[in-house]
This record gives sequence, C-alpha cells and structure tokens, in this order.
Amino acid sequence: MAESLESLKARLAAHGQEHVLRFWQELDEAGRARLLGELATIDLDWLARVFASRIESVRPEEITPYREVIREDDPGGAEALRVGEEALRAGRVATLLVAGGQGTRLGFDGPKGAFPIGAVSGKTLYQLHAERLVALGRRYGRTPLLFLMTSDANHEATVAQLEGARHYGLPPEDVLIFQQGLAPAVDEQGKLLLEAKDRLVRAPNGNGGLFKALEDSGALARMRALGIDALSYIQVDNPLAQSCDPRYVGYHLLRGSDYSCKAIRKVGPKERVGNYARVRGRLQIVEYTEIPDALAEQVDEHGELLYLYSNPGLFLWSLPFLEAQAARRDLPFHKAHKKIPHLDAEGRLVQPSAPCGYKLEAFAMDTLADAERSLVLACSRDAEFAPVKNASGVDSPESARALQTKLYASWIKAAGGVIYDPSAPIEVSPLHALDAAELRERLPARFEVRGPTYLA
Ligand code: UD1
Repeated sequence: MAESLESLKARLAAHGQEHVLRFWQELDEAGRARLLGELATIDLDWLARVFASRIESVRPEEITPYREVIREDDPGGAEALRVGEEALRAGRVATLLVAGGQGTRLGFDGPKGAFPIGAVSGKTLYQLHAERLVALGRRYGRTPLLFLMTSDANHEATVAQLEGARHYGLPPEDVLIFQQGLAPAVDEQGKLLLEAKDRLVRAPNGNGGLFKALEDSGALARMRALGIDALSYIQVDNPLAQSCDPRYVGYHLLRGSDYSCKAIRKVGPKERVGNYARVRGRLQIVEYTEIPDALAEQVDEHGELLYLYSNPGLFLWSLPFLEAQAARRDLPFHKAHKKIPHLDAEGRLVQPSAPCGYKLEAFAMDTLADAERSLVLACSRDAEFAPVKNASGVDSPESARALQTKLYASWIKAAGGVIYDPSAPIEVSPLHALDAAELRERLPARFEVRGPTYLA
C-alpha cells in the first residue's frame, strides 16, 4: 500500500530530509506522484548509515600487499586450458558485460558501448565484445550467453543499438539486457539533492548493483536452468577484454574457485586501477581512490612497487557465489565526492564548479573478501587491457587504439608477417582470429603491413 503523505513527512523529518518536499505546493498530480514514487524506494536509515561511514573503506594499518598470483608461465596452464575448453564446449560459461556507468569522464553523448573504438574498423565497444562471443561459439560449438547490464540513462539506447545491429550476430534469445538500480545523491551534510522540483538526484548504484540486478532480471535462474556455473565479468570500456578466456575458466573450475580475478602490473603507483592487497588478512581490491599514497608508493628491495598487481576488471564467479551475493542486503557503499548539478533552496539549478556532494556506489569487487575460495591469475597487460575512460591522454580512445595496434602487430610478427609502416593502425577482428595462434594459421605467407590493416 502506498505510504500516506503524513507518514512520509514524519519519516523525512525524523531524518532531517523534509526539504525534499519544499516545492510540493507547486507540483501537479503527476509531479507529486513521481516524487512520492522515488522517495518510496529510499531507505532513510540505510542512507544515514552510508553517509556516516568513512570515505576510505580500509585503514592504512590494515593493508598489506598481495603478490601470490598465479604467474603467466605457471606449469598448470595447459591442463587449465583443456578443462576450460571443455567447459566452453559444454556451455557452462556466460558473459556479464557491465555497462551501467555514466561514462562522464569520456564525455560521449550515448551509451559508452556505442563508442567507435576499433583501430581501423571503427566498430563499437558493444560490437567487439559481442563478436568475441560469436567467435567463441564458432570455435567451441556453444555461444556463451550475454548478460548486459545497463542503467536508467542508457538502457533504451543500448537496447536500440543492439536490436538495430541484430545483436551483432548473437542469437537474440541468448542476449539479456537488464537495468541495475539507482541510489540517491546527497550534499556534504547528507541531505538528499533535487534535480527538479519533482525529482531527486539519483545515479546508478555502482557495479555492485549487479548481483541484485542479475537476480531480479532472471539471469541467475536462467544460468541455473541451463547448467551455466561460471560467469565471466567484463567492463564495457575495455576493447581487449577476453571474456570466457578458456585457460582462465580452467583454473577457476580446477580450483573450485568462487571468485577468480585477473591481475596486471601497474605502470606507476598512482595509476587509476584497484590494487590487490590483503585487508585484515583477506584478499581484497583496494581502489585507487582509497589507497593512501604512502602505501601506493612503497617499493621492495628491487625498486618494484609492493602494490604491484592491479585489477583490469576481468572476474569469474561461481553460480553459488552469485546467488549468495544476490541474497545479501548489506553490501558496503562508497562515497564519491562529485560535482552534482542540483536545485538550490529557491529552485534554481546550480551547476557546481567544485565537488559539492556524494554519489553512493557499491563495488562488485568488494565481495572478493567474502569468497571462500579465490585465485588471482597474472595476465599480460598488453594483451588484455586497453581501457577507454577519458576523452584524451591516458586511457583514452587514442591510447586504446594504439594498444590494439601494438597487440595485433605482435600477432602478425609472431606469425611471420613483416611491418613496413610502424605508424599504420592494425586491427584483427575477433571473427578473423581470437588469438595469435589462430592468426598464425590464417595469415598468408609473406604478409606485409604497408598501411592501415584490417583483418576482418
Ligand atoms: C574500475 C574498477 C577498478 C579497475 C578499473 C579497470 C570498480 C569500482 N573499480 O575503475 O578497480 O582497476 O575499473 O578499468 O569497479 N559500472 C556500472 N554501473 C555503475 C558504475 C559502473 O555498470 O553504477 C560499470 C561501468 O560501465 C564500467 C565498469 O563498471 O564498465 C567500471 O566502472 P568505472 O566507473 O569506469 O570504474 P573505474 O573507476 O575506471
């Protein structure tokens, strides 16, 4: 039953949030209904708790480095590959592509997944991720399902994009696009902010919203019904993300892992990536925004960073772990200090020039501490990580295209090809070859790169 206005007022007053009804008299019926609907979704006790929590989720004295990764030259790799390939042939693996972020840093008008990123083809991020699954399907006889998580702001545009492109060759029934939840934003005193007189400022509740969204969308039930017991998490902004990597899947299954992670070496102490660490003795990822500088800069006797291994956003989860996380209602939330446009007390829209409030986000990676069994597999940064975060400079479209060229040039050289023009962009479609070994089988003899090269 809908809450009465009187009871809502009392609830808001008890939490010092009654200002959100400041413009009530000016609202029409629809506006009132909208505001009431939004307020009904907010647990004010929860909000007060999250606001009172510290910005840093961990204390420096609780953190120690984590270096016990499985190395790339681990002798178990061949067996892991065999087991992982078997699992792909049996259809036991699906992909979860998270694309619910707002992509503010990139400043692209549209879902980030629709950003053209192929170094030569200009294919979008969505297309590259989807075509990898099509190619895996051809290789192993079973196409991994694609679960794609969006949010309020980009859901419809994403659905339109995929439908318009006929799901890039994926069977439509094997693609499930669903939305994550929203969380309210607050000012520096913890007060709810209004975006309009009848609307709160709300933002996607962080990629940690995926567990509940997987359950609510029916994705978990579908996994169980189809015998899919491993979920490969990738982030939309990484065109080199290797979802359902068979060798990685093999390690995950052989070790009975609940939560597997890949790790790349950081390029510098302040790189904007999460750090593998032990927190109070348990493996965890400490985000770049939260690791104290003094720790991030520590080096060992060889001058190598102590917090060397970082998170490229490539996880594997077991189904029981996902189900347990989906049943939780107490995921920790982080507070991100941001410039948040909002209405002032007179109802004027303020476009702040400095951070003025907090967005509240849960991080999927925080659940690593809950995993009974986990593993961290070191992987090649060059082969798997080319993030598109900023409009220019580091982690930009330009750097991501250059990294594609560098990787595909190395495949061509390994296959005996010759690169005469080192400035030429190079791209290998997943539909042509998924890795260097496959390219070697396909590359014509005396292959030469003398200009932009696209192997489609
Ligand atoms: C993230 C990781 C960081 C990692 C880095 C690698 C988190 C909290 N941090 O940082 O440890 O080293 O990627 O590139 O994950 N997303 C949603 N819904 C949201 C928020 C984000 O789906 O509400 C998705 C984004 O669309 C993106 C991914 O999560 O695909 C990562 O989000 P982003 O904000 O780009 O994370 P980073 O700060 O770069």
